[in-house]
Formats: sequence, C-alpha cells, structure tokens
Amino acid sequence: MAFSNIPKLSLAHAPTPIEHLPRLGEQLGTQNLWVKRDDCTGLGLGGNKTRKLEYLLAEALDTGADTVLTVGGLQSNHARQTAAAAARLGLNCELILEPVTGTPEALYHHSGNVLLNRLFGATLTLAKPGQDGIELMHQRSAALSQEGYKPFCIPVGGSNTTGALGYVECAREIADWQYRNDIEFDHIILATGSAGTQAGLLAGAALFDLSATIRGFCVSRAGEAQSELVLSLTRPLFDRLGLCDDALPARIVTDGDYVGPGYGIETEGMKHAVRVTAETEGLLLDPVYTGKAMHGLFDSYHSGFFGPDDRVLFIHTGGAPALFGYETALFGD
Ligand SMILES: Cc1ncc(COP(=O)(O)O)c(C=O)c1O
Repeated sequence: MAFSNIPKLSLAHAPTPIEHLPRLGEQLGTQNLWVKRDDCTGLGLGGNKTRKLEYLLAEALDTGADTVLTVGGLQSNHARQTAAAAARLGLNCELILEPVTGTPEALYHHSGNVLLNRLFGATLTLAKPGQDGIELMHQRSAALSQEGYKPFCIPVGGSNTTGALGYVECAREIADWQYRNDIEFDHIILATGSAGTQAGLLAGAALFDLSATIRGFCVSRAGEAQSELVLSLTRPLFDRLGLCDDALPARIVTDGDYVGPGYGIETEGMKHAVRVTAETEGLLLDPVYTGKAMHGLFDSYHSGFFGPDDRVLFIHTGGAPALFGYETALFGD
C-alpha cells in the first residue's frame, strides 16, 4: 500500500521543529549541528513512541480493541506514551513493566515514567526478576479475551513494521525541512534500541531521497547484533512500502561503544553529555537513550570523525521524564 494511504491517527504535534544548536556546536567546534525535537511530540510529555502509536493504535481501533497492552522496562517511555495515548482514546491500558538490573533503586521504582503511568490510569504489573514480560503480556491478553474484552498487544518499543511507519513520516518531515531551508544533512544521529526508529528512518530516507548516513548509537546491545535487529525490521518494512535496495545492509550503521555496563545503567559519558547539553542549550536529554547517543556524538567530533563542515542532525527521541528516576545516579545522594 502507498505510504500516504496507510491508516494513521493524529496524536502528535507534528511536524516537530528542527532547531540549530549554536552553543553546543561551539563546544564541539562546529556551527552545523541541529536537533529534531521529537521530544516535543506533545502527547503525555512526548517522545518518539507517539509517532509509532499513531499507526499502531489506528490498527488497534480497526480491530475493535478496547484494551491495549504493552511491555517495557520500569522506566519505559514507550509504556508511558502508550498509557497517555490510551487515555486520549478512551481505551484501557495494561502495562507489564520489567525490573532492569543495575538501575538506580528507590526513585526508579516510583518516580518519572512510573508516576506518569499511574496518572494516565494504566494498570501496572511488575514482572518478577527472570519472568518474561512478553509472555506475561500474552497470558494477560488471553485472560482478557476470555473475560470478553478485546485486547491488542503492542510489541516492545512499538517496533514492528506498523510502528516503524511513524519514522517514515519523520523522514518525510526532514526532507521537507531540507527543501525549504536549502540545507542537506550529511549525518542523522539517533539512539537505537528496539530498532523501529532507525528502520523507519531508513525506509523514509529511501522513499523521500535523504542522502544522510543514519547512525544509531546502541543503548542495549553490541553494534553487530543491533545492525541485525535493524535489518530484520527494515527488510519487511521495505517490502510493505514496495521499496527495494540491494545495498540496504551496508546502509545500516550502528555503534555499540556507548552502551556502558548495560541498558539503563548510567555511564560517566552519558552524565557529561546530559549536563553539557542542558547547560549550553537548555535542552533536556534522558539517561537511557539520548544521553548515550549524545555521548557518541560528542566523541565523533572529538575524534575528528565529524568535521566542522559536516551537517549533523541529532534526533531527540525524548525520554526526559526518566531523569526524575535517575536523580541519585546523576547527582549522588
Ligand atoms: C527516548 C527514547 N529514545 C530512543 C528510543 C529507541 O527507539 P527504538 O526502540 O525505536 O529503537 C526509545 C525507545 O524506547 C526511547 O524511549
């Protein structure tokens, strides 16, 4: 089906702005650094999942769903945006949240996204250590069906070909901005986890002729494994959109050097990147995704991999609400 004909709800404030980052750029020796403010998608404090949910929840409503379920880490931004979208659409929402080993203790368990999930009226189930959240979600979905509800399960991170369409749309916005401003980006930088954002951008780049390299900084796995995950989602997305690219595997660029000890666990480089970005631009990153990607971006300048003339766009995928769960990790007790 043609991209523009695929059913989509309107949940996001879009197009999101693209802003120049002169003061951060000055620190990095460039005046060619911009940010796409997908942290400003609007719904329930925003973030990248709102774009995915516009397509996923169109599908859910089409099936007659009255309850949406999804799964994520305790401070999942995806879970929080799903809860907000469900509230907006009058759907029940059940979230299966998994503990994440090595993350901060007290605030992580009740502040940030966890607090917001409660405000949105979602039902929260905390998986026990070692329990598989996806399995729990499908068990709960089966139980809800038996009770007469119409459940709809959303995969981790909203990352299937339907969710990834949200980032095809983001690529369309970038292409439109480039045309209007007569600026073409050389590099697009993002944090990559469940891979839907990168897959969508890659498909969107093919569809709307973006020439930039799309570089994903990993937050949960090594680069090679992440590239395989991105490819496994991008291929069916290309098929769905009738796109073809024999060179696709070579276009998938990931960097696993900034994950640190693991998903959600703070690193010194992340903390530095979060602070410098806040202090120079008043821009709030997050500790789990964009902070680690920004650390990778800083290093790309420091190592000379990016030069002053490279035009670089950082996709701010959101996540700042999780900062409140990381107060002690960021500032100590
Ligand atoms: C703030 C933020 N940035 C980036 C990502 C990664 O996006 P994806 O899972 O599509 O790779 C997520 C996913 O949860 C996120 O919450």
